[in-house]
Amino acid sequence: MTDYYRNKIHHDEIIATFDDILIVPGYTNFNPSEVAIKSKLGKYDFNLPIISAAMDTVTEIEMAIKMALFGGLGVIHRNCSYEKQLEMVRIVKRARSFVIDDVATISPNDPIAKAKYMMENYNISGLVVINDTKKVCGILTKRDIPFTEDHLKKGTVKEFMTKQVISISPGASREDALNRLFESRKEKLPIIDEKGFLRGLITKKDLAPEFPFASIDEDGHLVCGLALSPKFPETIQAQSMLKEIDKYVDIFFIDVADFYKKADIEGTIKLMNLLESEFVLGNIGTYEAAEHLISKCDFNAEKFIGLKVGMGSGSICTTSIQTGVGAPTLYATAQVADAITDYNPKISLVADGGFKNPGDLPKAFTAGADFIMSGHFFAGCTESPGYIDTIQGRKVKVYRGMGSKEARTSGYVSDRYTEGSKVLPEGVSDYVPFVGDLSGVIASLREGLMNSMIYAGAKNIQAMKKAKIGIVSPVGQRETRIHDLIGAQWRI
Ligand code: XMP
Repeated sequence: MTDYYRNKIHHDEIIATFDDILIVPGYTNFNPSEVAIKSKLGKYDFNLPIISAAMDTVTEIEMAIKMALFGGLGVIHRNCSYEKQLEMVRIVKRARSFVIDDVATISPNDPIAKAKYMMENYNISGLVVINDTKKVCGILTKRDIPFTEDHLKKGTVKEFMTKQVISISPGASREDALNRLFESRKEKLPIIDEKGFLRGLITKKDLAPEFPFASIDEDGHLVCGLALSPKFPETIQAQSMLKEIDKYVDIFFIDVADFYKKADIEGTIKLMNLLESEFVLGNIGTYEAAEHLISKCDFNAEKFIGLKVGMGSGSICTTSIQTGVGAPTLYATAQVADAITDYNPKISLVADGGFKNPGDLPKAFTAGADFIMSGHFFAGCTESPGYIDTIQGRKVKVYRGMGSKEARTSGYVSDRYTEGSKVLPEGVSDYVPFVGDLSGVIASLREGLMNSMIYAGAKNIQAMKKAKIGIVSPVGQRETRIHDLIGAQWRI
């Protein structure tokens, strides 16, 4: 049995967490530009190993889109109906794609005035021209629309369209499309199959590498995560709704406070049989729980791609206060990382919650994490749901635990905690400072992580897992924070 990660925090019984440890500096034999923070979850390689939490004050449409554009992942919460979840994941999936499936078309015999009307009213800059047999016969862009009243009144599309259509075959890569657009100096590239039928459209605008690190699927759509209850829905109607949702989701996150439970495991097995997408299961906090889930349960092996860990350490959590049980994120990470090493190293580990400073992220990776998930860092961003309020002149946003009484009134997350528990909240609702756009927060988290890796001498996340950790003495904890300054007492 591996005890590598547990030995790093010295003693199995010490439930150590971020402030208890520091990463020991290592030898650095590479340039800062060589540091890579890529990490793997199921079939995707993410350029940013950071995930926004499945909470209703953290991740809805805007956050999910931005997280994916920056190379990470947003997990949309489950404190709402399946209908609302479907609406959200659909928008995220369609938000950015270099292939437009829903192409605007027109007939060659249509009046040119109709083309002008379509372009102006639907905000499109070009139309693909399709003949009676549904084959592509031309392309018409804004530049082809005539200026003169006479032409506009009497002209038809075929008189103004470009007949020599520069196109590309279905399945072409982003690079092929970029080359074709560059060679032809065109802005639009219809995708036409060998029989002449239109299969989609690629535009130069959508290919622009504005977000070169975005998390995208095989079709160029953003990768989307969604939280689910482990309870299997019994009605056919709910099951078909879930199947519809499944079309737009890449990774489902089973979202309960404690997943090491027979009923939740059985429900999840059924969900995995019903749905196509991959699954991350959680939360758990111990070696034994991970060992049980990986080696003794009947989960579909292809779809079981990750474990999410940490119990009671979130900034809005009161589980440990209310129940006396907890597995803080660093401790849970080390525990589960060892079980993954022993039973199935292909499973990725998501360390969830409890991160207060950028420096806590690298500590989680050193304890065996592949990804970190946070609500705390993102709840105060422009992209999180909710309004900006002002308290004593400071801009703030609401951040609430999914176990808070405020979040539970909707009824959707009551099964996130102990079944049947009605009066005991396991989270709070409060304010966090408004911190502006997500881009700024991501930039400091990314930089904190990369600089940490340079100090530790780790070129990538796998190397970071091998970096040494030391327990900091109470005196050391004081010394490694700001100290002995006039204002310092207020900042600690
Ligand atoms: P942070 O530290 O980022 O933690 O605020 C976010 C994680 O906390 C979990 N979560 C809760 N845990 N009671 C809990 O015990 C709650 O009300 C609650 N709400 C969220 C969740 O795993 C999230 O990702």
